[in-house]
Amino acid sequence: MTVPPRLLAAVALVDPAPDARVLEIGCGRGALAALLLERLPAGHYTGLDRSATATAATAARIADAIAAGRAEVLTTTLAEFRAEQVDLALAVNVNAFWTGPASRELAVLAAALRPGGVLHLLYGSDGGAAPRTDVVDRLTGHLDAGGFVPEVAMPEHGGVRLLHVQAGRQALR
Ligand SMILES: C[S@@+](CC[C@H](N)C(=O)[O-])C[C@H]1O[C@@H](n2cnc3c(N)ncnc32)[C@H](O)[C@@H]1O
Repeated sequence: MTVPPRLLAAVALVDPAPDARVLEIGCGRGALAALLLERLPAGHYTGLDRSATATAATAARIADAIAAGRAEVLTTTLAEFRAEQVDLALAVNVNAFWTGPASRELAVLAAALRPGGVLHLLYGSDGGAAPRTDVVDRLTGHLDAGGFVPEVAMPEHGGVRLLHVQAGRQALR
């Protein structure tokens, strides 16, 4: 099965530790789930998507990992998700973080991330086109209001350029 280049780039940029507990928001049909699990021999993957069609496809794609207790896939919106703690959360091309304040979604992620955990939001296409930059101010503003410290980059990997916003939790005052 051909893996979309943007997802190869995403997993390289996120670079999870082999024992990381990872949450993917908007897992779609599971292509990134399969790539991540290759990098998580001692870790765990949770994928969620609001689309039951998407989660069924993901669950079928990573059935062996689910059977082995290394992964789970849930049909839910992020706002309604109650997570176990994770080391890393990521989303590729999920627009909920810039179309509105995403305050409920970011509160869920703030609760789910362990101290030192990182949220990665990645946006881009497979064709080599430059990622859109008009959403950066909204994204970073929403993350800041949600208690995160965003860092913005526009890295190139394998002929794909992604908008990569990574964010840790703000220090408690
Ligand atoms: C554009 S697709 C991207 C899928 C995959 N990440 C990829 O890059 O191929 C966005 C996915 O996020 C899911 N999604 C969007 N907003 C969501 C939310 N608030 N909660 C859960 N899933 C969401 C959609 O159902 C869809 O499957």
